[in-house]
Formats: sequence, C-alpha cells, structure tokens
Amino acid sequence: MYRKSYIDIYLKNGFEFDEAKNEVDFALDTLFNFTYKDYMLDKQLENWQISKLIKVITERVTTRRPIQQIIGQAYFYGHKFFVNEYTLVPRPETELLVSASLELIKNIPTPKVLDIGTGTGCIPLTIAMENQTAYIASVDISPEAIETAKKNALFHNVLTNVKFFNSDLFENVQDKYNLIVSNPPYIPPQEKENLQIEVRDFDPPTALFTKDEAGVEFYKKIILKAKDYLLENGYIAFELGINQANLVKEMLEMNNYADINIIKDYNSIERIITARTNC
Ligand SMILES: C[S@@+](CC[C@H](N)C(=O)[O-])C[C@H]1O[C@@H](n2cnc3c(N)ncnc32)[C@H](O)[C@@H]1O
Repeated sequence: MYRKSYIDIYLKNGFEFDEAKNEVDFALDTLFNFTYKDYMLDKQLENWQISKLIKVITERVTTRRPIQQIIGQAYFYGHKFFVNEYTLVPRPETELLVSASLELIKNIPTPKVLDIGTGTGCIPLTIAMENQTAYIASVDISPEAIETAKKNALFHNVLTNVKFFNSDLFENVQDKYNLIVSNPPYIPPQEKENLQIEVRDFDPPTALFTKDEAGVEFYKKIILKAKDYLLENGYIAFELGINQANLVKEMLEMNNYADINIIKDYNSIERIITARTNC
C-alpha cells in the first residue's frame, strides 16, 4: 500500500486532507522511523508494518482518540515526549510559553524555575535542554503525570537539573525561584460540550477544566501565593485561554506586578502573559 492509501482512510471518515497527511507522516515517523526521503520515494512497508499502521489509523478514525495517545508519543519543541491518557498532549502554543520563559531567564547565571502543572514535563524538560544552567522544580497534582514526566526526563537524559514531585499547586513547594511558569487548566466547565471530541473525551479532565465560569481560578490562586515563592525581581509566565488576557492582567496589576507583557499566538490570540514582581 502506498502512503496515499492510508490518507484515503482518513478522508473516507471525514477528516481534512492536511490533518490526514500530517498524521500519516507522524505515524510513519514515530512507528517506523521514516525519513523525508522515505516519504518522497513512497518507500514500501513490510506486512507487519502495514497491519500495525492500519490498526492505529482505524482506532484513530473510529474513536477520535488523538493519534499521539494511540502511539504514545508527541513532538514538542522538536523533541519527542511520551504521552498517555493521564497527560495533556503538548500543544504548539505552549512552545511560545517555553520561548518566553527562556527569554526571561537568559541573563540569570543559574536560574531557578518552578513549573506548576507539568503534565508530560514538556515545559521543564525543554527549558533544561535549551538552558543547561537552569534548575527546575516541577509539580503536578496527578501522580501518573509525574511518573510520565520522570520517564521523559530519563529518555532525554535530563535527570540532574529537573526534579518532579506531587503537589496541589504550592502545597509541597518550599524553595524560592526566579521564574514560576504554568500552563494550568483554563477551560470553563460550561465549554465542555463545544470542545473537539479529541480533547473532550480523551485529554484528562484535571488538565483541562476549572470550576469557575471564567476559567481563571488557577491564575488567581497562583498569583495570590506566587510572591512567597519568588526571589527578588522574580517572573511569572502563564499560558492563557481565549479572552482571558485582560482578566489575568488585572489580577497581576492588583497584585503589584510590573513589566506585564502579552504575546499572541499563530492565530493572533493573546496566549502568553509574563510579568515581574515589583520588588
Ligand atoms: C493544561 S495541563 C498542562 C500540562 C503541561 N504543562 C503542558 O503544557 O502540556 C495542566 C496540568 O495541571 C495539572 N493540575 C491540575 N490541577 C492541579 C493542581 N491543583 N496542582 C498541580 N497541578 C495541577 C494537571 O494534572 C495537568 O497536568
């Protein structure tokens, strides 16, 4: 079977061409290490590979489970991460949060970073791979997410500079940091029915939903306590949901933060907010 035949399975099940093509290429890469040249020359698969690929694609198109969860891997900032039903599939928007964080700490000789709600560990591990002087503590309320993040740390051989532990926000955090970064849950509960099936039925609910109708309860809780955990002139960096930038900006202003900066994503949505403690 040629690559086009696998794309056709998606198309027959109502998927768009671009998504179909990207997912077939992703599957060929992650399952069988296909290279760009292999795609271009339409390299043929062995029988066991055909069976495996058809099984994966059939599960994808019939259940709508994200292909990254079916295969168990995702790409983030050019690196591979293990994912599963306990971890959010890392999103391209979150790469902007990592870039903003790296920028904030670039002139600090040995920056200390706290990541709240680590999931796969994609944020702290990428920061550690890009800035070898950084020390990062990462927390999550989900023990399964922490186990997955540790597996990713082992895979990337980033074990000395990143520590993972269970904590409900700051509950088990003791130290002080130059930067607190977080991509917290930010989807209001009433939005659940409007979500894509892939997100609504397969991303872990603790990674997605807040209890309040504006989706900002985690920002509020983190901002209220952050100063107890930030070093002098420490920074805060959040990923934001749609239409949350102004609310979070107001919270930061009310809590006397300075240098507030909002960054838009690829769709011109205000997606990242950063600020500095004013002391
Ligand atoms: C939107 S996901 C982000 C995951 C990952 N950082 C990423 O960007 O892909 C939010 C994460 O926060 C975690 N979380 C939810 N409530 C929490 C809490 N009270 N304390 C710590 N982590 C929490 C979830 O388990 C989930 O892993």
